[in-house]
Amino acid sequence: MKFFIDTANLAQIQEAHDLGVLDGVTTNPSLMAKEGIKGEAAIIKHYEDICEIVDGDVSAEVLSTDFKSIIEEGKKLAAIHPNIVVKVPMIKDGVKAIKWFTDNGIRTNCTLVFSAGQAILAAKAGAAYVSPFIGRIDDTNWDGVELIAQIAQIYSLQGYKTEILAASIRSALHIVKCAEVGADVCTCPLDSILGLLKHPLTDIGLAKFLEDAKKM
Ligand code: E4P
Repeated sequence: MKFFIDTANLAQIQEAHDLGVLDGVTTNPSLMAKEGIKGEAAIIKHYEDICEIVDGDVSAEVLSTDFKSIIEEGKKLAAIHPNIVVKVPMIKDGVKAIKWFTDNGIRTNCTLVFSAGQAILAAKAGAAYVSPFIGRIDDTNWDGVELIAQIAQIYSLQGYKTEILAASIRSALHIVKCAEVGADVCTCPLDSILGLLKHPLTDIGLAKFLEDAKKM
């Protein structure tokens, strides 16, 4: 399973990259706004900066919601760097746009996916990635990881090539569960990635080894 970091914060992207386990980045309008990125020139510059740090796919989300504008915006985003993947919402014009991008050699990430039916549509349109939001599903008292498992089974049975990018990750446990049920990629906040490091027995064991090492 690949690890993407789910942020537009350059320091966090650098930290995850320096850990040596980072395969890519996902952003969304909320994450970009959080970093104070405003206006077309600043958006382009920020994606260039991210692509400088990470040698892997970087999802850049369109802000448009009608077919023509999604295509225009997506073409501009894709032109920033070969690693840019155009992130398109799961709406009717979004699906049409994903098909257009697929036919024109531009890779897409279909976002805001909350059901297996939507995931099938994204795959049929040729999305490179589909992003089910598991944390937001959990928030509604449904099991987000179960959706990942269902999509993994369908994609495997049907031979769909779209990669399952588990999004809206809230914990290290989410990452483990997504790996268990066959997600191709997990996009995670830095805290969840670092959470994978933690085990109290590791800390206790290391303290004991360091104590005993003084006797060596
Ligand atoms: C990433 O592609 C998604 O936009 C992101 O994971 C959503 O996360 P959230 O539900 O924590 O906002």
